[in-house]
Amino acid sequence: MTHEIAVIPGDGIGQEVTPAAVEVLESLDIDFEFAEAEAGDAVKAETGEALPQETYDLAASADATLFGAAGDTAADVILPLRGAVDSFVNVRPAKAYPGVDAVRPETDLVFLRENTEGVYAGHEDRLTQDVSTLTRVVTESASERLAEFACDYVSGDEHDGFTVAHKANVMRETDGLFRDTVRDVADENGVETDEVLMDAFATRVCLDPTQFDVVVCPNLAGDVLSDLAAGLVGGLGLLPSANIGPERALFEPVHGTAPDIAGEGVANPAATIVSAAMLLEYLGYDDQAAAVNEAVEATLADGPRTPDLGGGASTEDVTEAIIDRL
Ligand code: NAI
Ligand code: MG
Repeated sequence: MTHEIAVIPGDGIGQEVTPAAVEVLESLDIDFEFAEAEAGDAVKAETGEALPQETYDLAASADATLFGAAGDTAADVILPLRGAVDSFVNVRPAKAYPGVDAVRPETDLVFLRENTEGVYAGHEDRLTQDVSTLTRVVTESASERLAEFACDYVSGDEHDGFTVAHKANVMRETDGLFRDTVRDVADENGVETDEVLMDAFATRVCLDPTQFDVVVCPNLAGDVLSDLAAGLVGGLGLLPSANIGPERALFEPVHGTAPDIAGEGVANPAATIVSAAMLLEYLGYDDQAAAVNEAVEATLADGPRTPDLGGGASTEDVTEAIIDRL
């Protein structure tokens, strides 16, 4: 079976780390057909559009998309691209790697973040010169979809249920609906849950991240808390993510275009390569995904390493070392 993979490197180090991840995928014995498309600042400067229609259409029809990063136009690119795959959940693992400097080396978390609504639904108004407002949207259907995904996600041996992070003590209607819906779906599926107020979570996860495993959050909370956890594991160059929809999905590193190092060939490709491992898992290639993750882990532990991790290796050196371990 052939899988069509849209490849959208974007700007800055996106042009360096995305081809590295494609090289890793190409080294596996899987029938991928890669189709590359443009998005971001460079194509906007050329054509006036940060996200050309053909790029959107490609992401909306490919089996999966691998995206790098976009510069100033990031919001004009990534939000519509997540829409193109109808992504309702953003999966963000935050895991420390052996041998890599981390604030909390014992961190091993996965955030499942609602990806369509909450305060990011886009309903903001300027009522008067003095007053602006925001309408927060929470629906039972989006909460249910997320909860069903979460139940599925924790169904293996690896996880004991999940934690729901919310602020339903204050946002009784919106987060109340979110929490109740997620809990009901978990109950129906026989999945254990506990809950934590999102502000308390921020403190507790810093003090002892091992208290948590899979964390299900509304959109803004998931955005902020997963970035906080990223700080605990050290190094933006390590964090992958997946935007999952009902029929297709988009995978991207958490980091941006890194203008300070772009063009030097020294960007850490690990985040994008681990994102590619998530793509493999999504398409059902669990063994290959595990092999890629192990190869990345071994390379981070024993080198070669890029300068962000204190090494002197190039993107290409690290990519080759990962492929050699496969
Ligand atoms: P950034 O993630 O690009 O860089 C922050 C710092 O981390 C820099 O010092 C950079 O060198 C380092 N870094 C990031 N990824 C790295 C990697 N793979 N290897 C080694 N070092 C790495 O975030 P920043 O500086 O806030 O944003 C730069 C540009 O990227 C902005 O134009 C922003 O809009 C865009 N951006 C795009 C995103 C996307 O497309 N999804 C996400 C975040 C930012
Ligand atoms: Mg963010």
